[in-house]
Amino acid sequence: MRHPAALFETSPNPTPSGKGGDKKYKLLDLFCCAGGAAKGYQDAGFEVVGVDIDPQPNFPYRFIQSDALSLSSEFLGRFDAIHASPPCQAYSDLAKRNRNADAWPRLIDPVRDMLIKTGLPYIIENVEGAPLQNPVILCGTMFPGLRVLRHRLFETNFSVIVPPHGRHPKVHTFDKRKSHYGKTNDMVDFVQVTGGGNCTIMAAREAMGISWMKKSELNEAIPPAYTKYIGMQLKAHIVQTTATHDVKPKKIA
Ligand SMILES: C[S@@+](CC[C@H](N)C(=O)[O-])C[C@H]1O[C@@H](n2cnc3c(N)ncnc32)[C@H](O)[C@@H]1O
Repeated sequence: MRHPAALFETSPNPTPSGKGGDKKYKLLDLFCCAGGAAKGYQDAGFEVVGVDIDPQPNFPYRFIQSDALSLSSEFLGRFDAIHASPPCQAYSDLAKRNRNADAWPRLIDPVRDMLIKTGLPYIIENVEGAPLQNPVILCGTMFPGLRVLRHRLFETNFSVIVPPHGRHPKVHTFDKRKSHYGKTNDMVDFVQVTGGGNCTIMAAREAMGISWMKKSELNEAIPPAYTKYIGMQLKAHIVQTTATHDVKPKKIA
């Protein structure tokens, strides 16, 4: 049975679309967690609604608790675009090394099928090694201000250009065997924001451009700068395709 999504909504505080003259397109953020991706789309000018199977008290926008794969086509059709970040564990290097990838669900194919059926512009984000189709790759070195080397793949059904990839700098380390041990500062240099990690939560938040998350949420998140960058191109795509559809046929005299 499909979830009556509205019943799960926890912050019914919508920003009216189109307020201030500039139309706010609506973006649905599936598998939203605490909203790293969502923040980037909001910064790009979208009105974002997040969906996650677990409660997400730190998600900063409207939130619906639901299984993303049980949403009805009627509900999905209320949005102008959809982003999805299905769980990455099954595709990660760690699971491959530990040979336990089968312990995790592989949701990319069913998610893609669902998104294609909507006919909407979509983005699927995941880790390197995930079976995305013709993805672009984003890295923290592409965005001034970020201090994480967080390679993420983005599959889109509209074209996206990507900034040049910089040289990977040395990352702050706690490992005394590394030649740069003791020569870096986690509030200045690149850091690792993972389960193990190598920096304070303050440094992790600053490095990712995320001020509101706890450490376990930061580990899962993508930097908002990535989705702001993609969101700007998505908005241009929506404006362009909407304009094309809005052209009225000329009357023949
Ligand atoms: C990698 S995190 C997403 C991170 C997020 N994009 C960000 O940037 O902060 C994946 C999320 O998917 C959620 N999830 C897993 N299975 C789900 C399902 N079937 N439906 C909805 N959410 C699900 C998990 O609870 C988790 O919060």
